[in-house]
Amino acid sequence: MARIIEPFRIKVVEPIRMTDPEERAQILAEAGYNLFRVASDAILIDLLTDSGTGAMSAHQWGAMMQGDESYAGSPSFHRFKHTVKDIFGFRHVIPTHQGRAAERILATTLVKPGDVVPNNTHFDTTRANIEAAGATAIDLPCAESRDLAAYHPFKGNIDLAALEHVLDENTGKVPFAMITITNNGGGGQPVSMDNMRAMAEICQARGVPFYVDACRFAENAYFIKTRSPEYAETDLIDIAREMFSYADGCTMSAKKDGMANIGGFLCSNDDAVARQEEEILILTEGFPTYGGLAGRDLEAIAVGLYEALALDYQRYRSASTRYLGEHIAEAGVPIVQPPGGHAIYIDAQAMLPHLPQAHYPGQALVVELYRHGGIRAVEIGSVMFGTRDPATGAETYAEHELVRLAIPRRVYTKSHIDYVVESILEVYEHRDQVRGIRIVEQPPMLRHFMARFAMR
Ligand SMILES: Cc1ncc(COP(=O)(O)O)c(C=O)c1O
Repeated sequence: MARIIEPFRIKVVEPIRMTDPEERAQILAEAGYNLFRVASDAILIDLLTDSGTGAMSAHQWGAMMQGDESYAGSPSFHRFKHTVKDIFGFRHVIPTHQGRAAERILATTLVKPGDVVPNNTHFDTTRANIEAAGATAIDLPCAESRDLAAYHPFKGNIDLAALEHVLDENTGKVPFAMITITNNGGGGQPVSMDNMRAMAEICQARGVPFYVDACRFAENAYFIKTRSPEYAETDLIDIAREMFSYADGCTMSAKKDGMANIGGFLCSNDDAVARQEEEILILTEGFPTYGGLAGRDLEAIAVGLYEALALDYQRYRSASTRYLGEHIAEAGVPIVQPPGGHAIYIDAQAMLPHLPQAHYPGQALVVELYRHGGIRAVEIGSVMFGTRDPATGAETYAEHELVRLAIPRRVYTKSHIDYVVESILEVYEHRDQVRGIRIVEQPPMLRHFMARFAMR
């Protein structure tokens, strides 16, 4: 069968409250044109993030009833640890309440002021945790990733020559090197097995530990299966095992390919490092057999990690994300090509050439997508990554002005996605009328969450 259908039936439904453009215009004005300030019951299709927003399976809900909430020695932890070890293969598994807690514990344990940590592209919390430890976080995306519209099967790869250069220039100052799979900051693009293997060899030759930011490891495994002919017949779980066999540890947000609404973990093969990490864990997250999670959350993750590796699920996930990307791209909407694993990224600067960066084309498009269709997306451009000097008011701008449409796991049907396609194409039709915006109020850090805007 050529047609790929949702590999699940729906047992529980959540109503969507219908709104119209007039009501949404009012809501936007009240929220200062910042979609983070809009209540989710005023959203028709919520593509703000794929993190923690997925639907759990009946099997996961059933497993949650087995959750053992003992403070120490919970069997739920043992089931969780058994799954993580089975897939990821690391010696030590430390549960955390979400991905950034794993990053913080890793950075607190290994990173010193003046250090340097390379990555294909640091996610913003990874970067922030490394910088909070006094180190420099360096992004080394491969050259192919720079051309947003160009096709390359593994645009998430790290630039290996640049990595060697950074390691050789900073001997003794690199506590670990990292690769993010898939590369969220770089358009949800996958990393090839060859790239991971070569990175491991480069790190090993220099005695630098190699860590994986594993949030979307199952999506990455599916891309390897479908884009590297030598893995076409390999099970996703074996691809995942091989990916992690090259690494010394990983950080994970189970809110993505853990298929859970909360949770994460930190893994390591180093006994001394793991002991130190557990000490920090006890200080801020909890005892090592629950680490800031309820026993029922550990159960949901233990089941969800295997569900993420089910071939039918990944086939559907990849097809539905690609469906959205291809249908808007065919009509001329400029997107980051090829479609990523968890999201489609619209190039707002290319779509709205009449808006200079000072008018924040990405945020302007986010506002119009909501006003016109009730769709919530997120700007990944100069609102998120630009800065304003408080003394002079001088602005710096991001390299690209993107709008991310992230697809929650197992939540929306094909007709929801058809609605999103139609809405985006209608906005595309009247794109020359989309007005720019200006920032009227902003906090000094992570301004995109709380800033207020006004229309120009
Ligand atoms: C690549 C990547 N790393 C780390 C994180 C942080 O995970 P969490 O939101 O669970 O703290 C995210 C979350 O979106 C992510 O996409």
